Amino acid sequence: MTFLFNSDAERGTVFRDAFARELPRLPFAIDPASVDTDLVRYIISWTVPDGLERYRNLEILFSVGAGVDQFPLLAIPPEVKVVRMVEDGIIRMMQEYVTLAVLALHRNLPAYLDLQRRHQWQAQPQKQAADRRVGLLGLGVLGRAVLESLKPFGFPLSGWSRSGMTIEGVTTYCGQAGLSQMLGETDILVCLLPLTEDTRGILDCNLFAQLPKGAALVHAGRGAQLDHFTLLAALDAGKLAGAVIDVTEPEPLPSDHALWAHPKVLLTPHVASATQAETAARSVIDNIKRYEAGLDPIGLVDRTRGY
Ligand code: NDP
Ligand code: OXD
Repeated sequence: MTFLFNSDAERGTVFRDAFARELPRLPFAIDPASVDTDLVRYIISWTVPDGLERYRNLEILFSVGAGVDQFPLLAIPPEVKVVRMVEDGIIRMMQEYVTLAVLALHRNLPAYLDLQRRHQWQAQPQKQAADRRVGLLGLGVLGRAVLESLKPFGFPLSGWSRSGMTIEGVTTYCGQAGLSQMLGETDILVCLLPLTEDTRGILDCNLFAQLPKGAALVHAGRGAQLDHFTLLAALDAGKLAGAVIDVTEPEPLPSDHALWAHPKVLLTPHVASATQAETAARSVIDNIKRYEAGLDPIGLVDRTRGY
């Protein structure tokens, strides 16, 4: 039985040390060329490793990231479980990023950066947090953690998910009618949805049209969920007041793209969050122990839903 680490060497050494400490009975390999593929039971990788069919006894394919849209889910043998990353480090970083982004939009930071560039000392009208409604698209591990971080500021909070759920202090919605209702009552919309066939292109003109005039967007899901041209048109028309964009399609964003220089946009290069080696290794080890004890791993992907 072997665990194969198929990702960057820096994280690999942290994983190797953690496995040696916490799970010494499980042989750990970093170099795919060095392993007997028949012995590999677990692989962690960002993309599907070359020649996946050679790992005939593979039981779990772990994603290095929280998203699994980079895996061709339906092409992975059905008996192999696919598990996305759920770990404290990635959660904490996303809480920081979205809190930063929501506060930046709430406090008009894009406008002040633009005024600074033009050497203009000019206060903007400011609302109180209690008057700024924040709506989350996606109430998964990250969306729920972000809501907890936002609670102390006093923003009225709402969230939309596929199944609908109850979260204390948050108005929750599901379904298309629920989405429309939430959008109509949202001043800062945060997208933390996984990329699936249902969510591809969801941030389009129909969605922006349902937001109140002057609303703003934080996009930290996946680039292919956002129609850039519609976003730019909504910003230029004043329908949207600002946007914080972390993910684009394609990545990297071409250097001549209009988003780079737009005065109402803060752009970051897909850094909202990232898997942290120490905490991720602990989470994968705990998941293997759970699985070997007959329990489902945390973050088990439902291939028919695509996340
Ligand atoms: P989860 O799988 O825990 O949560 C996904 C949420 O989205 C769930 O609430 C789910 O609803 C909801 N959802 C999925 N499809 C739909 C749909 N069609 N309609 C309505 N709701 C839907 O994911 P995480 O919270 O861990 O991560 C979310 C995404 O964040 C990742 O997939 C990745 O794309 C992105 N990400 C971005 C990073 C960055 O640096 N920019 C870093 C890490 C992640 P339900 O609860 O009903 O299942
Ligand atoms: C992830 C990411 O999915 O970094 O983990 O985007």
